[in-house]
Amino acid sequence: MVDIVTHPLAIDGKDPRNLRGDPIDPERYYTRDFMEKEWEHMWTKVWHIAGREKQLEEPGDYITHDFMHETVFIVKQKDGSLKGFYNVCSHRAQRLVWGLEGSQEEFACPYHGWKFDLEGKLVYVEDPDDYPDGDPCGKVNLIEVRVDTWGSLIWYTMDEEAPSLRDYLHPIPELYKNHMFERTVRARWVRVELDCNWKFWCDNFNESYHTRTAHQQVPPIIDQDHFTSRYEMYPMGHNRIIQMGRPSLRDRLPEGAEQPFDDMLRTWDIDPDSYPDFETKVMQGWLDLKEAKKTKWKEKGYLHYENLNDEELTESPFQFVFPNIAFGPSADGFGLFRWEPHRDDPEKCYFDYWTMTYPVEGQESYTHRTSEDPLETKEAEFELRDYDGGRGVQDLKGEVVYQDWGLMPGQKDGWRSRGYQEPVLAKQESRVRRFHEVLNDYINGNPPGRD
Ligand code: FES
Ligand SMILES: [Fe+2]
Repeated sequence: MVDIVTHPLAIDGKDPRNLRGDPIDPERYYTRDFMEKEWEHMWTKVWHIAGREKQLEEPGDYITHDFMHETVFIVKQKDGSLKGFYNVCSHRAQRLVWGLEGSQEEFACPYHGWKFDLEGKLVYVEDPDDYPDGDPCGKVNLIEVRVDTWGSLIWYTMDEEAPSLRDYLHPIPELYKNHMFERTVRARWVRVELDCNWKFWCDNFNESYHTRTAHQQVPPIIDQDHFTSRYEMYPMGHNRIIQMGRPSLRDRLPEGAEQPFDDMLRTWDIDPDSYPDFETKVMQGWLDLKEAKKTKWKEKGYLHYENLNDEELTESPFQFVFPNIAFGPSADGFGLFRWEPHRDDPEKCYFDYWTMTYPVEGQESYTHRTSEDPLETKEAEFELRDYDGGRGVQDLKGEVVYQDWGLMPGQKDGWRSRGYQEPVLAKQESRVRRFHEVLNDYINGNPPGRD
C-alpha cells in the first residue's frame, strides 16, 4: 500500500465550500487600473525569485532582476552572504547595473562616476570637496532589499514588513524537504514575451481540467483524472495538485499504440508484458515501479532519490507558489515556470521556462516524461524569445506549455467580450478562485500571514 500523509495545514482544494466565492471580474485581466493596484498592494509585498544560488559563487558575483517599475541586483559578499539593492544610484537615480549577471569588485555609476562597494557603501565620488556638507563617501548607502534563499533559489522582497521567506512559503519547504534541489542543473533557460495578462497562468496552472482537451499526450503517462488526484490549498495562498504517476484508466491510447509507460517500466527492469491486462499493468506496474526505484536507485545512479518516499518516487505534484511561480518536482526533474507582468501593458507578460534536471551517472541527457526532446544535462545559456504568434517558439512544439501558449490569444479577447461575465467553475477548478481570493486579500490590504 502507498502511505500518504497529508500536511496538517492542507485545505481540501476540491471543495468550493472552502472558498468565499468572490466574483472574478474580467476587468482584472485588462485594465490599467487593476494593474496599478496589483503593483501597489501585491507585487511590492511578495517575495520574488531573483535567480539561482549557483549563479553567485565568488564575492562580487551579481545577478539583476527587472520587475515592472523596479530593478534590483543581488551581490555575493566577501563573507559569503548575499545582499540585495535597488539598482539605482543614490546621486541622481541613474541605473547602476545592466545585464542579467556578472562580476565586479565595485559598482561604478556611468553618469557622474560615483562608486559603491559590494556592501552598497559609497566609496568614491568626483570632486568630493565640492559638496556643501563635505565628502558624501561613507555617509551614503544604496537602499537594500531583503534577500533570502530556499530551494537553491535566491529570493527578495521590496517589503520591510513582509513575513520571512520561510513563513511566506510555508509549508512548501517542508513539503519538498526530501528533494535535493541544490543538485539540480538548469538545462533550459528560456524567457518568452507573450500577449496576454499574467493571470492567464495563475488560472491555467491552478487546474488540470483542461489537460484532457489541450494536452492529450499527458494522460497516458500521468493520471490527470480528478477522482484519483489530490488537491490542496494552503493558508499563504499556495496551492497544489498531486497526480498519480501512472496512465489514466479512462484516457487510453488505442490498442497496439506505443505506450510510454512501458518505457518507464523497462527503465527499471520491469517487463510491461508480464501483466495480464492493461488495468493490472497500470495499477500493479505503478506499485512495482515504486518498489524498483526504492531498491535500485543507487545501482542505477539516481543518487538524488536517496530521501524520497513512496509518493515522491513516482507521483506528479504540481505546486503553485502565490502569485506567479509553479513547479512540478517529480523524482527525476521538473519544469519551473515563472510569469511576470509587462511594465505598463496589462495584456502582455513574460514567461520564464526552466527545465531542472538531476545528474544521473552514465546519462548525459534528460527527457521530461511529458516532453519529446532530450536536453543535455548541463547548465543552459539564457534565451529570450518573442512568441510572435507561435513562430518564435516552434522548436518547443513538443512541450506542454507550447499548447498553453497557443490558448492565450483567444483568452485575451474573450475576457474583453460582452459575451463573457463570470467563470462557471467545476469543483476541480476551485484553486482558480482561491488564487483570486488571495489576490483580492492583497489588493484590499489584508494579505495572509500578517496581523
Ligand atoms: S547619477 Fe550616479 S553618479 Fe550621478
Ligand atoms: Fe496546460
